[in-house]
Amino acid sequence: MRDAMTQPAGKVIAGNWKMHHGPAATLDFFRTFQLQESPGHTSVILFPPAVSFAAARQGIGKSRGVSLGVQNIHWEPKGAFTGELSAEMAAEAGASFALVGHSERRHGFGETDAETRLKVEAALRAGLAPILCVGETLEERTGGQMEAVVIRQLDAVLSVAGGTLQRSGREGAGPALLIAYEPVWAIGTGRTATPEDAAEAHALIRARLAVALGNSVARSTKVLYGGSVKPENAAELLASQDVDGLLVGGASLDPVSFAQIVAAAG
Ligand code: PGA
Repeated sequence: MRDAMTQPAGKVIAGNWKMHHGPAATLDFFRTFQLQESPGHTSVILFPPAVSFAAARQGIGKSRGVSLGVQNIHWEPKGAFTGELSAEMAAEAGASFALVGHSERRHGFGETDAETRLKVEAALRAGLAPILCVGETLEERTGGQMEAVVIRQLDAVLSVAGGTLQRSGREGAGPALLIAYEPVWAIGTGRTATPEDAAEAHALIRARLAVALGNSVARSTKVLYGGSVKPENAAELLASQDVDGLLVGGASLDPVSFAQIVAAAG
């Protein structure tokens, strides 16, 4: 296992590029972003497509405060899994974080709770900090299922990864799990959760973390909000109770708007 990781400092602003920005567009992004970017105490994480990783590392250069992550991992360290990449390889290529259970993986590629659990374990084993994405669909929300869905998705991971996380929380060092609450109805739809919606779900997540991992780990675990975050709504979402950062999709593709969101975190 690589060196143990602790929770990132300050507010966390993460940009999930999804299947956008090949190597040339990645270099272009950093030409502008470096000029704008001043993260201060904010932790900035970008999730480029894996083929753009080398370009992203080159683009980041020596600028401090920007880390990289991968959008998905397989749970095995290596093997005959065409098209997949392992947590160990991602770490070797310079990743510090891995998204796990993004709704596009769950709903577009049939990823199950059992698979998210394996992926979180694999990330921790390789020294990557997993960002576990949870969130309900519109149908689940209107059917009064928000709490049950979020708790099911969390518990699938906490029941197994709990021991490792509790230990590292007690010792103040060790692999860190972050959570992103991303209501599916707010992703890429332009429809953002209100600060009250976000605060309600984040409080639920924090309470569940406390039951599974104890109060001190729960307090220090970063819980991000994601879903149609833009420069115009970033500050009010960040001001909501229990929102420790943002996971930004579309608005992270443009270096100017992403820098504005970073600036909103202070
Ligand atoms: P969006 O995506 O900001 O484009 O809604 C967020 C995400 O999917 O992480």
